[in-house]
Amino acid sequence: MGCISITLGGGLMAVITLIEVVVGQAAATEKAACKFAGLYNFGDSNSDTGGISAAFEPIPWPYGLTFFKKSAGRDSDGRVLLDFIAEQVGLPYLSAYLNSIGANFSHGANFATGGSTIRRQNETIFQYGISPFSLDVQIWHHDQFKSRTKDLYDQVKSPFERSLLPRHEDFSKALYTFDIGQNDLSVAFRTMNDEQLRATIPNIISQFSSAVEHLYKQGARSFWIHNTGPIGCLPVSLFYITNPKQGYLDKNGCIKGQNDMAIEFNKQLKETVTKLRMQLPEAALTYVDLYSAKYGLISKTKSEGWADPMKVCCGYHEKDGHVWCGQKGVITNGSTVFGAACKNPELHVSWDGVHHTEGANHWFANQIFNGSLSDPPVPLSHACYRN
Ligand SMILES: *[C@@H]1O[C@H](CO)[C@@H](O)[C@H](O)[C@H]1NC(C)=O
Ligand SMILES: *[C@@H]1O[C@H](CO)[C@@H](O)[C@H](O)[C@H]1NC(C)=O
Ligand SMILES: *[C@@H]1O[C@H](CO)[C@@H](O)[C@H](O)[C@H]1NC(C)=O
Ligand SMILES: *[C@@H]1O[C@H](CO)[C@@H](O)[C@H](O)[C@H]1NC(C)=O
Repeated sequence: MGCISITLGGGLMAVITLIEVVVGQAAATEKAACKFAGLYNFGDSNSDTGGISAAFEPIPWPYGLTFFKKSAGRDSDGRVLLDFIAEQVGLPYLSAYLNSIGANFSHGANFATGGSTIRRQNETIFQYGISPFSLDVQIWHHDQFKSRTKDLYDQVKSPFERSLLPRHEDFSKALYTFDIGQNDLSVAFRTMNDEQLRATIPNIISQFSSAVEHLYKQGARSFWIHNTGPIGCLPVSLFYITNPKQGYLDKNGCIKGQNDMAIEFNKQLKETVTKLRMQLPEAALTYVDLYSAKYGLISKTKSEGWADPMKVCCGYHEKDGHVWCGQKGVITNGSTVFGAACKNPELHVSWDGVHHTEGANHWFANQIFNGSLSDPPVPLSHACYRN
C-alpha cells in the first residue's frame, strides 16, 4: 500500500484507501483473535501499575479504594486503562518493571511511570513531579529486561522461578502498548509559549518514533498506540483560573488552547504512525484515538448521569485551598485538611484532578476496544494482524 499511496494522486488514493479499509475490516474479523503471549507497556501515570511507587514514594490511600481495596501503585481509585487491556487480551495485570517485590513478569512488564515524558527533561521529580524515566530510559529498561530474562530463563532450574519469567520467543508475540506525551505538553505549557511548543512537537514525535523503530528492531511486531487526551479538560488545569476571558474555555468548560495543542500533537503522531507502517514491513501498528473517547465522555456526562466532569472526587479543592488526594494540607483559615475521597467515585470522571476514576477508565476501554476509534479500524482482539 505504501508505494501506491506515494505514486497515485489524492483522489484515487482516497478511493483505494477506503476500499482497503472496508476489505481490511471484513478480513480482520474473519481471522481468529490474536493470542498475545505478553504485554509490554510504555507510558506515564495513565498506565503506571506500580513503577513510580516502587522507585519513589508510594501512592497513598485512598488511591485504590474501589477495586484493589488498598493503594496499588495506580493513580486511580481502581484499575487503569492498561488493566482493562490486560483483561481484554486474557493476560494478568502487569507488574511494574521497577518493582522488586512480588513481581511476576511471565506475561510482560510495565515500564510506565507516573510523570514520564517522551523527551528527557532537565528537572527532578521533586520540582514538578516529572519522572526521570522518560521514554528513552523506559526503552533501556526494556532492553535490559529482555537480555537479562533470556540469560536467567536458561540458568534457573526451578519451575517456580521460571514461571516468573517470559520465554524469549514470546517477545515478538507480545503486544506493545504506549500511552505517553501528556506530560511533554504539561511541561511545555509551563516553560514555553505556544509558538515554541508548536516548534517542538515534531521533535517530541520523532523521539517517539525512534522508540517504536528500536522495539521493532528488537523483534516487536504488534503496537497499540494511544494518542494523548484532552489535557485542557483536566480539572487541575482550571484550579487556579478565575474569570477566564471569553473564548478561553470551550462549550464543555475545557481550556481550548491546551486541547488544540493536544490535537496538533495527535495529528503529527498519527502521521508518524502511518509513516512507520510503511517503514516497518512486518509491524501491525494501531493508532487509537483515545482523545475522542475521553472528550466524548466529558461531553456526555449530563446525558449519561455522571457528575460534573470538572468536579474532583478525591482531594480538597475549594476557594480556601487545595489539598491533593491522600495528602494533608493547611487551608486559608489555618485548619489542617485531609484530601479524602468522595462517597460515589463511580459517578465521577476525575478521580484526583489529573487522573480518571476506574469508572471512567472502564468507559474509555469500552469505547476503544472494538476499533471504532482506531486507525486502521481493527479491534484490540485483532491488533496483531497487519492490514
Ligand atoms: C535539556 O538540556 C540539554 C542540554 O543542555 C538540551 O540539549 C535539551 O534540549 C534539554 N531538554 C529539554 C527538554 O529542554
Ligand atoms: C506467574 O504468572 C503466571 C501467569 O499468570 C502463572 O502461571 C505463574 O504461576 C505465576 N508464577 C508465580 C510464581 O506465581
Ligand atoms: C476552616 O475551614 C474549614 C473548611 O471550610 C472548616 O471546616 C473549618 O471548620 C474552619 N476552621 C476554622 C478554625 O474556622
Ligand atoms: C464500539 O463500541 C462503542 C461503545 O460501546 C459503540 O458506541 C460503537 O457503536 C461500537 N462500534 C462498532 C463499530 O461496533
